[in-house]
Amino acid sequence: MLSKAARSRAEELREQLNLHNYRYHVLDDPLISDADYDQMLNELRDLEEQHPELATDDSPTHRVGGAISERFVRVPHPGPILSLANAFSEDDVRAWYERIARLDARVRETAFVVEPKLDGLTVVLHYENGIFNLGATRGDGQNGEDITANLRTVRTLPLRVPLKPNGIEVPARLVVRGEAIIFKKDFKEMNRRAEAEGSKTYVNPRNTAAGSLRQLDTSLTATRPIRLFCYSIIESNGEPLERQWSVLEYLRDLGFPVEEHARICEGIDDVLITIEQLASKRKSFAYEIDGMVIKVDDMELADSLGVAGKDPRGAIAFKLPAEERTTQLLDIGLNVGRTGVITPYAILEPVYVGGATVKQATLHNFDFIKEKDIRVGDQVLIKRSGDVIPYVIGPIVEARKGKEKRYKMPKKCPDCGEPIQIIEGEVAVYCANASCPAQLVRILEHFASRAAMDIEGLGIKIAVQLVEGNLVEDAGDIYRLKKEDLLGLEGFADRKAEKLLSAIRISKAQPLSRVINALGIRGVGETVAADLARHFRSLDALSIAKPEDLEAMEGIGPNIASGVVDWFALPRNKKLLAKLKKAGVWPEVEQVESGSQALSGQTFVLTGTLPNMQRGEAKALIVAAGGKVTGSISRKTDYLVAGEKAGSKLTKAQDLEVEIIDEAALKNLLG
Ligand code: IVH
Repeated sequence: MLSKAARSRAEELREQLNLHNYRYHVLDDPLISDADYDQMLNELRDLEEQHPELATDDSPTHRVGGAISERFVRVPHPGPILSLANAFSEDDVRAWYERIARLDARVRETAFVVEPKLDGLTVVLHYENGIFNLGATRGDGQNGEDITANLRTVRTLPLRVPLKPNGIEVPARLVVRGEAIIFKKDFKEMNRRAEAEGSKTYVNPRNTAAGSLRQLDTSLTATRPIRLFCYSIIESNGEPLERQWSVLEYLRDLGFPVEEHARICEGIDDVLITIEQLASKRKSFAYEIDGMVIKVDDMELADSLGVAGKDPRGAIAFKLPAEERTTQLLDIGLNVGRTGVITPYAILEPVYVGGATVKQATLHNFDFIKEKDIRVGDQVLIKRSGDVIPYVIGPIVEARKGKEKRYKMPKKCPDCGEPIQIIEGEVAVYCANASCPAQLVRILEHFASRAAMDIEGLGIKIAVQLVEGNLVEDAGDIYRLKKEDLLGLEGFADRKAEKLLSAIRISKAQPLSRVINALGIRGVGETVAADLARHFRSLDALSIAKPEDLEAMEGIGPNIASGVVDWFALPRNKKLLAKLKKAGVWPEVEQVESGSQALSGQTFVLTGTLPNMQRGEAKALIVAAGGKVTGSISRKTDYLVAGEKAGSKLTKAQDLEVEIIDEAALKNLLG
């Protein structure tokens, strides 16, 4: 190809690719297929290889990385890259407002912009005649590190502006500030892959984003799902902008990715309401935010307020409680569950995290401690987000002082002292002693819980008292308790004892499904218990069920089946059942009249859109007629009810020769 033609083709391809990249990564609204994009990219790569003189700074071919640096070069920023003062409460925000309003009364009239504070790495991006030619970290605010080659691999970073054909004048010089982050879902996926490959998992999105952009090998950076949001202009000789709100709009118009939850607020009260609204949505954000930034909208006013130290007075960061904090691991405690599983937990130097003071956190299992090499005395990173149980992410290895102690697996049950059992191929570690008091406490707690026998007042505290007072050997003994027994326990007077005994008596009338759930059979929770009750109708029938009887049921595989059979075979469980029977806790499911139960024993799967019925409605009708509706097709499925746009389930049903019916046929079956 002639060099001139090549040049114009390369130019065209670059322009197209940059636009499609923007449509795909920034707007999430692609115009062409991935394959078409790849084809264009390949063509451009070939052209640039044949004519190296055609390669330009803004070429999308750089996005795949490849350059390897020895170290990062220091670059001066065009102006100081400032940070922000923090506010931790509504009072702090009001105090800031009053302070600046005293400095300049115009503050009382101005609007404010509230933006989510993105938890990532600040980047400073330079554009020369619209072409991205330098990108730096914040560094000390005066000088940063040149990470241009790494930043070129970030898909949402425009290599050339403007990308939108909307007649905006490109400023000859433009320096933009933004935040590089990793979305939560991308981060999860990174860790899923790392785990599958057996490599080290990443600690959190923020550190991973920062670490990725400081990789010397850019092809590694290119594999990381880094994204960018821009929020301010450090320098520009383009049109002067008077308001922060216009800055966001202008950046968006130039084709920069701009976060979309920013709000313009009339006054400080509006600011505080907005902060609360955004804070309540924190969990639903696709990325982590650590607060909100409140900015005086009028930029001239903001500038005139000046800078205090490194913090401009015209803005403040409202910090949300950190969800991750480091604290010292004081010790590792052990918990014995009702199935005998022993799990380790962290005993921590109390720390305020995610809005609460945390003293304990889960360590998952012993393999986790070993894999992460967690040592007693370590500084550990813990996370508490929303209602999730706090957990240890890992140790801060760099903070070790040498006195930390490696953890030794326990050899004995912490409660009964019997040797611990390790089952080959299983992560869990067990106490096999059936009369281990810790297990019995958990068994009682589960037995009495809301989804099981629902015995009001019988929680873990009373369970401990009953076990320690030698009043029960198993859950069946609850029904033999007498008032005198309870009166001997601390905190029990007449009324409390009577109330508990009455709750125990009432529980005798619980239906079969709850009693089955209460037994605490491995793999049998609320749903499976309900299925078993419906299928077997009595404990007598269930107790003699064979594995094949159980496995014939939808949703029950060999593990649950053997869990049930093994449970009923154990002498101590036979003893428990005898006690329950004697106490009258022996419910049966009444035989339902046939006729109204036209679909009894039949299993259905629903897929696609039905012409006249909502899926929920169809499900309710099937269940009311004695049938069962499950989510996935298997050989045990009797019918697939398929509507329009039925997808993979239809093919699977055909493969497994499951009968496929439509809405009309279903109505026929329902009678
Ligand atoms: S404005 C002088 N806006 O928060 C203006 N910063 O503690 C300062 N950050 O280092 C920055 N989201 O990395 C601003 N929407 C946002 C931000 C934001 C995240 C970071 C930024 C800065 C830190 C300030």
